[in-house]
Amino acid sequence: MSEGKIIAVWGSPNSGKTTVATKLATAIYDNYQSTVIVLYTDIETPALPVIFPNEKTEDVGSVGIPLSKVEVDRDDVIRNLVITKNRQNFGFIGYRAGDNKFTYPKFGRAKAEALLEELCELANYVIVDCTSNLENNVLSSVAVEMSEQIIRLASPDLKSISFFLSQLPVYADEKYRLSEHIQGINTPNEDVFMPIEETKSHLKDVRFSVPYCEEVKLQMQKGSLIEATKDKVFDSRMSEIAGKVVTYGQV
Ligand SMILES: Nc1ncnc2c1ncn2[C@@H]1O[C@H](COP(=O)(O)OP(=O)(O)OP(=O)(O)O)[C@@H](O)[C@H]1O
Ligand SMILES: [Mg+2]
Repeated sequence: MSEGKIIAVWGSPNSGKTTVATKLATAIYDNYQSTVIVLYTDIETPALPVIFPNEKTEDVGSVGIPLSKVEVDRDDVIRNLVITKNRQNFGFIGYRAGDNKFTYPKFGRAKAEALLEELCELANYVIVDCTSNLENNVLSSVAVEMSEQIIRLASPDLKSISFFLSQLPVYADEKYRLSEHIQGINTPNEDVFMPIEETKSHLKDVRFSVPYCEEVKLQMQKGSLIEATKDKVFDSRMSEIAGKVVTYGQV
């Protein structure tokens, strides 16, 4: 069996899943000398054109390619990783500009499992940016099933609370492992709509919260999310979460 651990990041729409998954991966890579891969599962709003808007489209691979073959092939997976110049052993894989559900053949659980297993062969940590709707995205749902840890993100606003009130019963099936989820709060906007304490009272057992960071907001707008920030509060919080994730589930 492969040694890599899958960390799934799931939560309400716009709660910061893509941001937190990327920053968490960066913190694990920087602090623990690990090989890290981020898998972006969204095929309706592919993440690669957002994370790497300055890369030429022809230089960016797509996770749809290895998933289209009869068997998921390791070299195919490697060829479709986005690797940046400054960081070796840090890869990103997801859907690229223009991809949609018609671009590649449909695939099922077995393919998704095979892909995740290959990623675990290649990396110590596979951080999966899941879609809010797990039932619509087989990569996300299989990642949740196979993961070592599941981070569940909420944002401090009424929409996020409403999402969980509505959707947690949808994911009652044991395979979604609701009772194991590590609940966190991320603040994706400057104008906090709801006090953190009030948000916590709606969510059970909040284990961490990530503060709003202006620089991160700008990084997402400029396409430099994988670069370091100068915000010590944000960075130390991400490092703390990374530390707990690495030392096995003690978030
Ligand atoms: N801690 C933070 N500080 C500042 N901005 C943030 C933070 N977290 C997220 N954001 C911003 O909030 C917005 C939503 O974040 P993101 O795209 O990561 O959410 P998401 O949950 O992945 O959304 P979706 O449901 O569309 O996939 C982005 O503009 C992002 O830059
Ligand atoms: Mg996202």
